[in-house]
Amino acid sequence: MASNDLIRYLPKAELHLHIEGTLEPELMWQLANKHDIVLPYESVEAIRAAYQFEDLQSFLDLYYQGADVLRDEDDFYQLMWAYLLKCKEDNVVHTEMMVDPQTHTHRGVGFEVFMPGFKRAIKQAKKELGISCYLILSFLRHLPEEDALQTLEEAKEYYDDFIAVGLDSSELGNPPSKFENVFARAKSLGFKCVAHAGEEGPPEYVWQALNLLQVERIDHGVRSAEDPVLMRKLVENQIPLTVCPQSNLKLNVVDEMSQHNILKLLDDGLLVTVNADDPSYFGAYINGNFESLDRALDMSDKQLVKLVKNSFFASFLPEDEKEYWLALIDKAFASK
Ligand code: ADE
Ligand code: ZN
Repeated sequence: MASNDLIRYLPKAELHLHIEGTLEPELMWQLANKHDIVLPYESVEAIRAAYQFEDLQSFLDLYYQGADVLRDEDDFYQLMWAYLLKCKEDNVVHTEMMVDPQTHTHRGVGFEVFMPGFKRAIKQAKKELGISCYLILSFLRHLPEEDALQTLEEAKEYYDDFIAVGLDSSELGNPPSKFENVFARAKSLGFKCVAHAGEEGPPEYVWQALNLLQVERIDHGVRSAEDPVLMRKLVENQIPLTVCPQSNLKLNVVDEMSQHNILKLLDDGLLVTVNADDPSYFGAYINGNFESLDRALDMSDKQLVKLVKNSFFASFLPEDEKEYWLALIDKAFASK
């Protein structure tokens, strides 16, 4: 089987995905028309053409601007449903995605608007597509910790709908140490913890996420490779890194895909996974990410299967469900 076919054929879990980053230009255009919003673009093509980024911040500026077209419950339903259809297309059977509440609450769109829309699509996907979804409530790190604490409070009615809390947005200058109190509070409420670290920020931020925020997974973490002691800790404790190759390329974390360190990290024994991050903005959903890696790094079938199995190992699924999918991957690979 050609590797592109195998990529499509294997059931996968996606663990690092921002739902707001799945907003395709077509839907942005449609929702802008619906709500009489004037976009700073002349066409759908012009929106897509604007997706050229220098770094994380230049992307985030467009990403927050784009999210402004999401105004009512049905907009959030449509956004989520469109992503879940992509999951079906790419054979993603389980997804753990980040929601950025502050992106919406700060413009007057509350939990009572976006949560029912998301939940309606998630319920439909479970029933009609057989896809399971967990949500991660992610705090925006460029805002004060007080704002994150208030957001956690505002989410109260929806605690049962979130499995974990996360930390995203502008990394440099906003270290994990800034969010120690809100992560401690979330942990005491029973949430699992994850955080973006080591995307643009130094290995020190990964250490802080592990030691101060007590996270179970690191989102990105590719700069961990600069610190051999940290690398040893990540291997020994099998702490997952949810890596996003196409995002790293588009945000100039790496100059060329051929220089990406994900397969080296994998071969060194780290529990790395492949994810899309913000697929609309970076031009690739999960299979597109695997295909780019294959083209640039000549990934072996063995490496591909390991990466896919890692996505279930690193997930928050119960053990019996993990085992079910891991066995299915073995079976699928053996019969290819
Ligand atoms: N929000 C959405 N995508 C992000 C990324 N790659 N890093 C930090 N914050 C984000
Ligand atoms: Zn991310």
